[in-house]
Amino acid sequence: MPERRSLELQCYERLFNAFPEALVVVDQELAIQYSNKNYAKLFALEGDGAGLAIGQFLPLTDVRNLVDRAGKERKFKEAELKLTLPQGGRGFFKTIVIPFGLDNERDSLFLVRLEDVSERVRLEEQLLQYGKVCAMGQMAASIAHELGNPLSIMITCLEFLRHSLQESNRTLEEQIAMMEENAVRMHELLTSLSDMSGLGRFQIEKEDVHGCIKPVLSFVRKMAEKSGIEVISDLVSELPPILIDVKQMKQVFLNLLKNAVEAMPNGGTITVRSRYAPGDSSAERGHIIVEVEDSGNGVPSGDLETIFKPFYSTKKKGMGLGLSLCRGIIEKHGGKIRVTSQEGKGSCFIVEIPVDGAL
Ligand SMILES: Nc1ncnc2c1ncn2[C@@H]1O[C@H](COP(=O)(O)OP(=O)(O)OP(=O)(O)O)[C@@H](O)[C@H]1O
Ligand SMILES: [Mg+2]
Repeated sequence: MPERRSLELQCYERLFNAFPEALVVVDQELAIQYSNKNYAKLFALEGDGAGLAIGQFLPLTDVRNLVDRAGKERKFKEAELKLTLPQGGRGFFKTIVIPFGLDNERDSLFLVRLEDVSERVRLEEQLLQYGKVCAMGQMAASIAHELGNPLSIMITCLEFLRHSLQESNRTLEEQIAMMEENAVRMHELLTSLSDMSGLGRFQIEKEDVHGCIKPVLSFVRKMAEKSGIEVISDLVSELPPILIDVKQMKQVFLNLLKNAVEAMPNGGTITVRSRYAPGDSSAERGHIIVEVEDSGNGVPSGDLETIFKPFYSTKKKGMGLGLSLCRGIIEKHGGKIRVTSQEGKGSCFIVEIPVDGAL
């Protein structure tokens, strides 16, 4: 008979160690009685941890709570616990506490089973984040749509008012022109918001990219001069015309120049360059390259990709949408946008658009 008992014990021990989860048996005082190999591995234990307090490894209040409830109701209880692991980092574990007793004792012991669910939690968090981004995109698009129409009506009325004014009303005319200019800008921003969610429409024309840069440059120059920023335009005399959505492309350069201005709170220089890079062979297409360079605070090397993600911003009032919008628009034109930067010295945003881009 004792031989049979010893065989049974060996069998139970093997079974206990064969479980892929970490298992530990504790008493009512939460002292460890026995643990399996996976538990010992998870918490880097020498032996099976017998005699140690489980609170050393798991959040004590949470486990106490689970054990008390499992003991009282005499059924298993579960919760998801966040644990700090000895090898560093944190993990999420589905924790189940099962009450049981030996011989005549009733539920004086508890089996605690830990299943690593960190990967699932991470994916859920990512999905939540992605959902938030999509929801915000949708929201932005509907706001843009709702505000866009009344704004275009206002713009038309202001234009009409300006044209109807008499010669003598010079000041009034200037004020109206300013209102009109700002309303147009708001309208353009709203349009680009809806473009970001993919709901905007493309209006393609065969145009010289300079047609999108020059008007934005003169607008930004006015704004920049007030902040002690010099804007240098170094554009080639002629570029091959390409198929572009002029409004959206203007938005790209407006965002890049706005960012450049914002990166130089104490003044500096912005240089806008353009050139044509012919393709090496008939198979390789030629590109139009536009660079927007500033002498501002620069981007840390680890953030050179992150800054293109939606809602990433280091500014108090920034939405973090400018660069993600730019990338979206440029990619729709078959092109690319990238940045080179040196912290404290400045940044250079490089836009490349193929002359026969896929739209
Ligand atoms: N020229 C630049 N120099 C330094 N950092 C920049 C520059 N352009 C962008 N960044 C960094 O990239 C981040 C994201 O830029 P993005 O244009 O997408 O959003 P934003 O400017 O913060 O807000 P929004 O454009 O919505 O007003 C900025 O917050 C800033 O940290
Ligand atoms: Mg911006």
